[in-house]
Amino acid sequence: MAKLTVLTGITTTGTPHLGNYVGAIQPAISASHDPNVAAFYFLADYHALIKCHEPDHVHQSSREIAATWLALGLDTDNAVFYRQSDVPEILELAWILSCVTSKGLMNRSHAYKAAVAANEEKGETDPDKGITMGLFNYPILMAADILMFNAHRVPVGKDQIQHIEMARDIAGRFNHIYGQHFVLPEAVIGEDTSILNGLDGRKMSKSYNNTIPLFLPEKKFRKLIMKIKTNSLEPGEPKQTEGCTLFSIYKAFATNEQVDEVRKSYAEGIAWGEMKQLLFEHLNHHLRESRDRYDELMQQPDKVEKILQQGAEKARTYSIPLLKEIRQAVGIRQITDLG
Ligand code: TRP
Repeated sequence: MAKLTVLTGITTTGTPHLGNYVGAIQPAISASHDPNVAAFYFLADYHALIKCHEPDHVHQSSREIAATWLALGLDTDNAVFYRQSDVPEILELAWILSCVTSKGLMNRSHAYKAAVAANEEKGETDPDKGITMGLFNYPILMAADILMFNAHRVPVGKDQIQHIEMARDIAGRFNHIYGQHFVLPEAVIGEDTSILNGLDGRKMSKSYNNTIPLFLPEKKFRKLIMKIKTNSLEPGEPKQTEGCTLFSIYKAFATNEQVDEVRKSYAEGIAWGEMKQLLFEHLNHHLRESRDRYDELMQQPDKVEKILQQGAEKARTYSIPLLKEIRQAVGIRQITDLG
């Protein structure tokens, strides 16, 4: 039976945090060990340029994300792990796709509409003020990422569903004009239980600046855990697990029995300080070994670079023939074959 192709990209603009780990990284890494899945995971560094014009930041983020995924045990024999920018066929495909994508479809993109709405709210006379073509074309580049490897399933956050639908639309349009070449991808959305709250109790997200990085030095890590917002119930007063950030994070890393224990402690009025200490120790125990591997990999940039380059080589065994087929299909061909 043909393998199921699963593909996802990680934009290289930040440092991986606990929310990324629970929602995206951990499930992706376990899928990388599944022999029935052809997994493609990549650093979406060209996507990073849409949001970030700080070269060192983009570079550092790529390095951290690569080291994180490797430290957590990504199976790079089974999965293809690469950097988008190392696979130039993706950008060529993006252009070809842009020629079958209606501008109206892009006008409806949430990311673009949100930027326009922000301008209108500020009373700008030009609704497109400060909006780049990169932002506008973002869904086409993402479609190229996905269609290049004929991915069946694309695990993403809820905010990305529309982009996967657009990739389907674009694939369908291309197939309609030029014949059947692309698989229509489907989004796979993580369960709601995999969404963690951040320091301030809102969803843990880079844009809220409330994240807890996955691999911090132990002391700093503890300090951040101690900063998580709680209510002001005193020790001894029974507490609700529902909606409690400490509990939600603990739960994402614990067995059912451990969760039941902690539920009991809440009912018995565990002090917030004590719960924070417990959470810290639990997470620290869980992450310690991979953090050591992470620190090591951050000291060995050559090793990480080599793995990424090998990944790109593997990725290109797919992308080069596919792009050749696509160019042929659209009429970008040599006049004659000179042999
Ligand atoms: N845009 C995605 C995000 O911000 C990252 C991404 C880029 C992606 N290309 C992709 C995800 C292709 C899935 C498939 O989360």
